[in-house]
Amino acid sequence: MSKIILGIESSCDDTSAAVVSDGILLSNVIASQKVHEAYGGVVPELASRAHIQNIVPVVSEALRQAGVSKEQLSAIAFTRGPGLLGSLLVGTSFAKGLAIALQIPVIDVNHLHGHVLAQFVRTAETDEVPEFPFMCLLISGGNSQIIMVKSPSDMEILGRTIDDAAGEAFDKCAKVLGLPYPGGPHIDRLAAEGDPHRFKFAKPHIPGLDYSFSGLKTSFLYTLRDNLRKDPDFITNNIADLAASLQHTIIEILLDKLDKAVKEHPVKQLAIGGGVSANSGVRTAIERFCAERGIRAWIPPRSFTTDNAAMVAIAGYFKLLEGDYASLDLPPYSRVTI
Ligand code: KG4
Repeated sequence: MSKIILGIESSCDDTSAAVVSDGILLSNVIASQKVHEAYGGVVPELASRAHIQNIVPVVSEALRQAGVSKEQLSAIAFTRGPGLLGSLLVGTSFAKGLAIALQIPVIDVNHLHGHVLAQFVRTAETDEVPEFPFMCLLISGGNSQIIMVKSPSDMEILGRTIDDAAGEAFDKCAKVLGLPYPGGPHIDRLAAEGDPHRFKFAKPHIPGLDYSFSGLKTSFLYTLRDNLRKDPDFITNNIADLAASLQHTIIEILLDKLDKAVKEHPVKQLAIGGGVSANSGVRTAIERFCAERGIRAWIPPRSFTTDNAAMVAIAGYFKLLEGDYASLDLPPYSRVTI
């Protein structure tokens, strides 16, 4: 009998549901919340309320697109954390309620494991997946980590950010440029038109494989301040060059540590995951980085880089194969690493 799993993601501002059957993705529905745009960031209470409104239609649509009835499900996987607690409670409670009604197990998924395991989302068209072990650069709105992925459940963090995440560097700098939230995709779009070498921003000098992006943010602000004194239209007149130079510096910071990581921990395969791995410049740079070193690059489709339930369903599928189910009294958690 097929093992069919429903995945539910509600950790931040996307309500998503996906169906995976015997490891193959049948549907992946995402309702993004527009309500936060006016505030320049995610408002937790509004996110929870929007999840409550979205979750039933999103799950119904995922089942409909997959051509699967509720009764055919073998298990329900849900994001347990990290994320916004109120948002996580919606997905967690919904998953448990539906599982009780259907008398099937629930499976808890660490959101970060989900981003890493997004490499294993197989569709009818793409059937290739990485082999363990591989290295993963996980770059999202809240995390920047270099991870050695030994198995679906055994992941060792080799380096992590000590302050801001790469996504925060994109979003916070974009905000001062007057761009909408989240700013990463806007910087990506503008950077395509700009000169990446026009402005020089500070790069961190911290030991080991850890990242830091707060110095870059400060240096970006100083550049704006100094130039705005001379030219009040400095941002408008130079926005593409500012975006391109910012993106270039973030990529350099990411690759400097990655270079050190693959020297210290030689690997044959390297994957990227998390929202920032949707960035065009990052994707091209990783392709080149891997090609120069004879490493196979795993770059997921953009739809599996930002928050989605396909990655939750596939991470849950690995646990289903192990019979690793969650207890119904398991609470969500807001913070954790891997
Ligand atoms: O993985 P994700 O959806 O949420 C977290 O789990 O954190 O990542 C969101 C982050 C945001 O910071 C957003 O600006 C960034 O991913 N992002 C991008 C791009 N698309 C999303 N950053 C740069 N370029 C993009 N194309």
